[in-house]
Amino acid sequence: MPNERNATSCRRGDSLEMKKITLAFDVYGTLMDTAGVTRALEQYAGDRAAAFSDLWRQKQLEYSFRRGLMQNYQSFSVCTRNALDYTCAIFRVDISKSEKDALMAEYRTLPVFPDVVEGLGSLRSSGVRMFAFSNGHADDVCSLLHHNKIDTYFKDVISVDEIRSFKPNPAVYSHFLRRSGAHGSEAWLISGNPFDVMGAISAGMRAAWVQRSPDMVFDPWGIEPTVTVSGIAGLQDAIAGN
Ligand code: 2OP
Repeated sequence: MPNERNATSCRRGDSLEMKKITLAFDVYGTLMDTAGVTRALEQYAGDRAAAFSDLWRQKQLEYSFRRGLMQNYQSFSVCTRNALDYTCAIFRVDISKSEKDALMAEYRTLPVFPDVVEGLGSLRSSGVRMFAFSNGHADDVCSLLHHNKIDTYFKDVISVDEIRSFKPNPAVYSHFLRRSGAHGSEAWLISGNPFDVMGAISAGMRAAWVQRSPDMVFDPWGIEPTVTVSGIAGLQDAIAGN
């Protein structure tokens, strides 16, 4: 067991090491709770609002994967809008264009998960460089970060839109490394989305999976996250130990 003095010097060492680290924070599903649209959906989908929100999110991601593979790029907000149209059709929710526009606006004001502000604050004190790294267009991500008053924690927003592809194309993780000037072994993706974690690991980064609910399952492909945490608050210790 380390005595207090050793434990203190160990923490100081960790903090020096932390200064070399670059963190790429995924946005939707990691910092922002995409289920934040559920309440607005209740007026249209009633007690099926949570299921509607889940399918909307799943389709949004599926459309981004498909557009990436087809090399038929449209921005993430187009994927989100097309996914909303699809989900309305599946749930037989017949709403007007302006009502759909209002739901899209909800997506631009999603709430952060409750642990985010405190977690980012303590990471900032450790000296790491933090970026937002998202499928979302930089304008949408900036306004979301600003809306939730967490924009000042990030050195920059790096969007896949800059190379017109989507996660988990390895090119987008290389783009992150180029833009941030980080080296693969010192660059961590932080994501609540297993496909994103697996993409980053495959592309040579380290990655923390933020398991946002105990029911979430990590895809059993044999590609494992470097660390798993239940929220942003646990990140600093997990990264310092790796
Ligand atoms: C993001 O890139 C994957 O939706 C997630 O923000």
